[in-house]
Amino acid sequence: MPPENQTERPPVCDYEGSDYQAAFWDAGERAYENRVEGIALKRLLPKNGELLLEIGAGAGRNTPRYGGYKKVVLLDFSRTQLKQARDRLGANERYTYVAADVYRLPFVPGLFDAATMIRVLHHMADAPQALRQIREVLRPQAAFILEYANKLNLKAIFRYLLRRQDWSPFTHEAVEFAKLNFDFHPAAIRNWLKAEGFSPPRQLTVSHFRISLLKRLVPLSLLVAMDSLFQWTGSLWQLTPSVFVKAQAVGETPLAEPGTFFRCPECGHNLPDKREEDLECAGCSRRWGFQDGIYDFKEPLKD
Ligand SMILES: C[S@@+](CC[C@H](N)C(=O)[O-])C[C@H]1O[C@@H](n2cnc3c(N)ncnc32)[C@H](O)[C@@H]1O
Repeated sequence: MPPENQTERPPVCDYEGSDYQAAFWDAGERAYENRVEGIALKRLLPKNGELLLEIGAGAGRNTPRYGGYKKVVLLDFSRTQLKQARDRLGANERYTYVAADVYRLPFVPGLFDAATMIRVLHHMADAPQALRQIREVLRPQAAFILEYANKLNLKAIFRYLLRRQDWSPFTHEAVEFAKLNFDFHPAAIRNWLKAEGFSPPRQLTVSHFRISLLKRLVPLSLLVAMDSLFQWTGSLWQLTPSVFVKAQAVGETPLAEPGTFFRCPECGHNLPDKREEDLECAGCSRRWGFQDGIYDFKEPLKD
């Protein structure tokens, strides 16, 4: 469906100017989470490929984990996050930096043979709409690795049973625990994936031991090894705060034609196959900027 026919644009959690990478990861004592996420990604993502789309790439924390892909497109709504990613990863020609909204992806259908979305879905007020957009730009059989925040986690279950939390972790609707921060039920995620054209997912549970006291007392390598073992139980039950799934794109999608890449996020017309310059849409005459190594599809250029 061309972007112009889409329903209203859902709100976006804006990371413009945020020090997320420095505050949350670099200084946040989250070595455990970072390492166990790396293990899950390695287990799920096909080792090699042509073109991978990293959705909500942020400052590029995970990008070095995609070394088997010839090219990686880092997409994020925040220009400053992408700038940080570019500063860290460099102006390597393997990487394309794209500022855009996942609800309005600026790519032709059937382009990517893999996509990842790690720690991003929890900002989606309309998760099915985001999944629909992602499915459209994937080739048939493309792998999609998705991480989501799980409302059915042990802590939430205990808190609910002890009446210290009013929302139920057992029901399928998402819970917005802070503005534009959502936890999802695993069954809802599986249903949405199926409805939007993905195969039943393979599931790994991640961050079993995300408890400050444990992280302080138990050596990091031991905690990581235990989490790595327990991740396989994700195929049986999902009770961790974080779940990684791998789904494949199923059904018909035309492959992107050679020489096509970007499309106008406003009218859906293919954009000229030029690189590293502003792009003018022949369909609606909007112009999209290229600045500081980043393609910008957030807002068209003003004359
Ligand atoms: C919690 S950070 C995660 C960054 C990275 N994936 C990681 O795991 O380190 C969430 C990222 O999603 C991006 N994001 C949120 N909503 C978005 C949207 N609608 N379209 C594109 N990116 C979005 C934010 O700008 C932010 O960089």
